[in-house]
Amino acid sequence: MKVTVDEDRCRGHGVCWALCPEVFDLNDDGYSEVLTPEVPAGFEETARAAVAQCPERAISEG
Ligand code: F3S
Repeated sequence: MKVTVDEDRCRGHGVCWALCPEVFDLNDDGYSEVLTPEVPAGFEETARAAVAQCPERAISEG
Protein backbone atom coordinates (compact mmCIF):
# COMPACT_ATOMS: atom_id res chain seq x y z
CA MET A 1 0.00 0.00 0.00
CA LYS A 2 1.22 3.49 -0.88
CA VAL A 3 -0.05 6.90 0.17
CA THR A 4 0.39 10.38 -1.22
CA VAL A 5 -0.69 13.78 0.05
CA ASP A 6 -1.95 16.45 -2.32
CA GLU A 7 -0.10 19.54 -1.09
CA ASP A 8 -2.66 21.82 -2.70
CA ARG A 9 -5.50 20.27 -0.69
CA CYS A 10 -3.79 19.83 2.69
CA ARG A 11 -4.86 22.51 5.17
CA GLY A 12 -2.91 21.23 8.14
CA HIS A 13 -5.68 19.58 10.14
CA GLY A 14 -3.16 17.04 11.41
CA VAL A 15 -5.56 14.10 11.58
CA CYS A 16 -3.17 12.01 9.50
CA TRP A 17 -0.31 12.57 11.90
CA ALA A 18 -2.49 11.96 14.96
CA LEU A 19 -3.75 8.66 13.56
CA CYS A 20 -0.58 7.32 11.97
CA PRO A 21 2.63 9.14 12.95
CA GLU A 22 4.66 6.23 11.58
CA VAL A 23 3.69 7.33 8.07
CA PHE A 24 2.73 11.02 8.33
CA ASP A 25 4.56 13.94 9.86
CA LEU A 26 3.77 17.65 9.89
CA ASN A 27 6.33 20.02 8.42
CA ASP A 28 7.36 23.34 10.00
CA ASP A 29 4.33 25.02 8.42
CA GLY A 30 1.99 22.41 9.87
CA TYR A 31 1.24 20.61 6.63
CA SER A 32 1.40 16.89 6.12
CA GLU A 33 4.54 15.21 4.92
CA VAL A 34 4.66 11.54 4.03
CA LEU A 35 7.57 9.87 5.79
CA THR A 36 7.30 6.53 4.03
CA PRO A 37 5.22 6.48 0.81
CA GLU A 38 5.27 2.68 1.02
CA VAL A 39 3.26 2.03 4.18
CA PRO A 40 5.16 -0.34 6.48
CA ALA A 41 3.58 -3.69 7.30
CA GLY A 42 1.20 -3.41 10.21
CA PHE A 43 0.25 0.22 9.63
CA GLU A 44 -2.12 -0.20 6.70
CA GLU A 45 -5.19 0.07 8.91
CA THR A 46 -4.21 3.36 10.53
CA ALA A 47 -2.97 4.74 7.20
CA ARG A 48 -6.35 3.91 5.65
CA ALA A 49 -8.06 5.63 8.57
CA ALA A 50 -6.02 8.74 7.79
CA VAL A 51 -7.07 8.56 4.13
CA ALA A 52 -10.71 8.28 5.18
CA GLN A 53 -10.65 10.92 7.90
CA CYS A 54 -8.66 13.76 6.37
CA PRO A 55 -11.26 16.57 6.30
CA GLU A 56 -9.84 17.87 3.01
CA ARG A 57 -9.63 14.46 1.33
CA ALA A 58 -5.99 15.33 0.66
CA ILE A 59 -4.60 11.82 1.08
CA SER A 60 -4.80 9.19 -1.62
CA GLU A 61 -3.96 5.53 -1.69
CA GLY A 62 -1.73 4.36 -4.48
FE1 F3S B 1 -3.40 17.76 5.81
FE2 F3S B 1 -5.43 16.19 5.90
FE3 F3S B 1 -3.34 15.61 7.27
S1 F3S B 1 -5.52 18.39 5.82
S2 F3S B 1 -2.42 17.58 7.80
S3 F3S B 1 -3.46 15.69 5.07
S4 F3S B 1 -5.42 15.36 7.94
